[in-house]
Amino acid sequence: MAKKRAFITGITGQDGSYLAELLLAKGYTVYGLIRRSSNDPLVRLPQRVRKDITYLYGNLRDSASLRRALEVARPDEIYNLAAQSDVGVSFKIPEETFEINYHGLGRLIHEAVAINPKVRIYQASTSEMYGSTKPPQNERSPFNPVSPYGEAKLRAHEDYVVGYRDRYGLFICSGILFNHESPRRGEHFVTRKITQSLAKIKLGLQKQLELGNLDAKRDWGFAGDYVEAMWRMLQQKKPVDYVISTGETHTVREFLAAAAKALGMTLTFTGKGLRETAMDEKGRVLVKINKNFYRPREVHSLRGDSRKARKELGWDPQVSFDELVTMMALADFERVRREQK
Ligand code: GDD
Repeated sequence: MAKKRAFITGITGQDGSYLAELLLAKGYTVYGLIRRSSNDPLVRLPQRVRKDITYLYGNLRDSASLRRALEVARPDEIYNLAAQSDVGVSFKIPEETFEINYHGLGRLIHEAVAINPKVRIYQASTSEMYGSTKPPQNERSPFNPVSPYGEAKLRAHEDYVVGYRDRYGLFICSGILFNHESPRRGEHFVTRKITQSLAKIKLGLQKQLELGNLDAKRDWGFAGDYVEAMWRMLQQKKPVDYVISTGETHTVREFLAAAAKALGMTLTFTGKGLRETAMDEKGRVLVKINKNFYRPREVHSLRGDSRKARKELGWDPQVSFDELVTMMALADFERVRREQK
C-alpha cells in the first residue's frame, strides 16, 4: 500500500513537533508548512526527525502559497495547527488573530478541497471557545468565548468545520483541546514561563518571576498524549468533533507550587490579589504579581469532560499532572544548566 501523506500547518510549534514524530513513526510521508523567518523555525523539532520532513514555504494568509504547497504534498490528511495561539496577545492584535485563526482555515480548506475533495482535515479548536461557560465542559456545552482568540476559533469551528461538513459533506473535524503542555511549550505560556524561570532562579541566574492571575484554573495535559487523539480522529469512519482533556483542574498557583517542589523548593504564599507573593524557605520573594500579565477578560475555570473521546476513540491521557509538571521543571533545569556551562 502507498504511504499515507500528511500535511501539517504549524509544524514548528509544540504540537506540530509531536505530531510529526508520531506520523513518521507510523510510516507517513510528512510535509510541513513553514513561514520564512530569520530565526531557525525548526528549533522545536528534534534533530532526529528534522531531515525526514519535507518543508514547504507558505502561510495561512496567502492562498497561492497554500495551493503550491498542497500541490506538492497531495495529502491524504491535513492537520491545521498553525495559529496566533496566544490568548493574551489576541486582545492587542484582534485583526491579525482573525486573519490567521479564522480566514486562514477558510483559505486552507478551499485550496485543499480543490485538489482532493476527499482529503481529511483536522482543525485545532480549543477550550477557549467555552470562555465563561462553567465546568465541566463537553461537546454539548455552550460556547461563550471572552477573547478575540476564542471568538476567532469559535467562528472557524462553526462556519468552516461544522458548516462545511454539513453543507458540503467534507471530512473535517475539530479537536476541542484543553491546555496541553510539554518541555517544548512556547516560553510565553504560563507553564513554561514558570518552569523556565524557576530553573533559572534555582541556578542563581534570575531573582524573581512576575505573573498575572494565579487563581485561573486550567485542565493541563501532556501534548504528546494529545497529538495521538488528533490522529485517531482522522482515522474514524465519520468526521466527529471531540473534547480532549484530562478531566482534572488546577490553579496557576498549584502549578507554580508543584514546579517549585519538583526542583526541591518550597514556596509560601502570602497576601491577596496584586499584593500576593511567594517566598522560599529563606524568606526571599521569588514570585510577585504584575498587573500587566492580567488579561482584559479572563477564562476563569476549565475542566474538560472527554468521556466521548475515551469511549469512541479509545484515547486516554497517559501523563498525570504531577508527572507533567516534573517533566517540564526537570527538562528546563537540565537545559538551563547545560547552557550555563
Ligand atoms: N501567559 C501567561 N503569562 N499567563 C498567565 C500569567 C503569565 O504571566 N500569569 C497568569 N496567567 C494565567 C492566564 O491569565 C491564564 O488564565 C492561564 O495563566 C493560562 O495562560 P496561558 O498559559 O497563556 O494559556 P491559555 O489558557 O490562555 O491558552 C492556551 O490554552 C488554550 C487551550 O485552552 C493556549 O495554548 C491556547 O492557544 C489554547 O487554545
